[in-house]
Amino acid sequence: MIKDIQQKILDLKSEKDICILAHSYQAKEIVEIADITGDSYKLSVEAAKVQNKNILMCGVHFMAETAKMLSPEKRVYLSHPDAGCPMAEQMEPEMILELKKREPDRKVVCYVNTTAALKAVCDVCVTSSSAVKIVKAMDAEKILFIPDCNLGAFVQKACPEKDIMLLQGGCPVHAAITRDELLEAKAAHPNALVLVHPECRPEVTELCDYAGSTSDIMNYAAKSDAKEFIIGTENSIAEHLQYRFPEKEFYVMSKRLICPNMKLTTLMDVYKSCLEVGTETKREIIMEQELIEKAKVCINEMIRLGG
Ligand code: 13P
Ligand code: SF4
Repeated sequence: MIKDIQQKILDLKSEKDICILAHSYQAKEIVEIADITGDSYKLSVEAAKVQNKNILMCGVHFMAETAKMLSPEKRVYLSHPDAGCPMAEQMEPEMILELKKREPDRKVVCYVNTTAALKAVCDVCVTSSSAVKIVKAMDAEKILFIPDCNLGAFVQKACPEKDIMLLQGGCPVHAAITRDELLEAKAAHPNALVLVHPECRPEVTELCDYAGSTSDIMNYAAKSDAKEFIIGTENSIAEHLQYRFPEKEFYVMSKRLICPNMKLTTLMDVYKSCLEVGTETKREIIMEQELIEKAKVCINEMIRLGG
């Protein structure tokens, strides 16, 4: 059954000239039929290079919006119309404009997990894999980092030469994980290395063996000689790694590390999305040209400084 649906998707993909981009948190059966899979940075870079007429993003809304900004001439669709990222909605542009008035010499760095309207008032965009590199490369000493204060604290620690101001925001899934949960996982698997996403709280990242983006965690596990790993990011990553490296053991750090928004998309949604490509559908990302122009500035800056 799964194979049949996957084949139908592959047929529709070539018939309708669709490129499927999938975030690594998507289910295995979706990752298998995607043209490109990766973390937020890879998806942004690859979205700008797509040659197909249509892009289907399997992930959450800001990812599809970013793809639309980078390829405005393409029709871009989101696999599930209700898949949003709560962090992306946490701050209003007006609030940042107000702060900019009070701190005019501070450059605003926004995490890619933000709405286009918020990106439009920021100077540079970053992803978790590029944040440290970009902040270091910026020609500014005073920075306001939004919205994720945990990723911001991670960048602060790596860039002591910068004056980085943070606001209270973050990923409700990663930030919910406690130091005790990490310690419990370590007690259960004392020989395992702990790999954690920087969206987790500093009290968690400071106890890990390695902190990095989704792709950084996967690459670290791939290259490491260690045999056991505790994965401190969305639980799909432990599952994908286990399939790729059956000779190693991957444990989830917490059963609670599940993003309900990333998990909304099913293979059937991907199939239905492909059927709807080219029609009027609520899955299509429609954006004003003016908003695209304004928000794209900080995404282009991310690609320039992070490339
Ligand atoms: P990365 O894909 O950049 O690691 O970010 C993780 C995440 O939470 C995406 O929403
Ligand atoms: Fe947003 Fe967190 Fe889910 Fe990523 S894991 S989409 S940051 S809620």
